[in-house]
Amino acid sequence: MKTPDMSTKPDVTTFFDADSNTFSYVVKDPDSASCAIIDSVMEFDYAAGRIAFDGADRIISHIRDNGLTLEWQIETHVHADHLSAAPYIQERLGGKIAVGRNIIAIQETFGKIFNEGTEFQRDGSQFDALLDDGDTYMIGGMHAYAMATPGHTPACMTHVIGDAAFVGDTLFMPDGGSARADFPGGNAGELYDSIMRVLSLPDEMRLFMCHDYGPNGREILCETTVGDERRHNIHVGGGKTRAEFIAMREARDATLAMPKLIIPSLQVNMRAGDVPRDDDGNMVLKIPVNKL
Ligand SMILES: [Fe+2]
Repeated sequence: MKTPDMSTKPDVTTFFDADSNTFSYVVKDPDSASCAIIDSVMEFDYAAGRIAFDGADRIISHIRDNGLTLEWQIETHVHADHLSAAPYIQERLGGKIAVGRNIIAIQETFGKIFNEGTEFQRDGSQFDALLDDGDTYMIGGMHAYAMATPGHTPACMTHVIGDAAFVGDTLFMPDGGSARADFPGGNAGELYDSIMRVLSLPDEMRLFMCHDYGPNGREILCETTVGDERRHNIHVGGGKTRAEFIAMREARDATLAMPKLIIPSLQVNMRAGDVPRDDDGNMVLKIPVNKL
């Protein structure tokens, strides 16, 4: 495993989408104007079939107002509960769109579920960069690396940038536990191993969540540390075993409904944020019946 550079402390600005309880981040190199976006959100009004970009516009304004240069748009994974705004932002600011190479497995699985035609490429070519475990990239002068953390989905990655790690849905805040592992390609045992990987980072490493639901009525929070998670996480903290975790996770997942936006989210996110189009060029989404 790579050694994180704890002496580099990126500036992190948080944006919150209240509809999907998703955090997006702008991560800036403290020594230059370079930045990256982690997990942007495009709003989707299911009843109306209408997309909007209020949150993306707020991120774009933040980047423009501060004179920043967008180098990367990182997707921690193929989200099932919100749609990515990466192409909309890329048109305005650039920024290479990157995701884990296992996106190919997800495209294969959901290409079948959505009965996509041959024009839907299942090789990840919709993205600008496909990352393998341990791959490094630069944001200005900052070294960043991707760490494979599958389990919630096969393509989940945690991104370590200086003293900050963006964990996607590998972990929630300590009182939120962990994300479900029952989507196609998910695996509770793998998720446990991935969480252990994250918790092997230095104690003082800042951890940034992809979601928070404010359990038990507490305020919404996006940030914790490895040390805090190791001690207090309700699903894995305090020495819970792998077997205990798997039993808890599988029992809990069996009770969960599908996320409200899973059907549009997957179709868009497996295309790097592009909405699929019909033969006349209209943006159209499918609802496969009894397939999920
Ligand atoms: Fe997710």
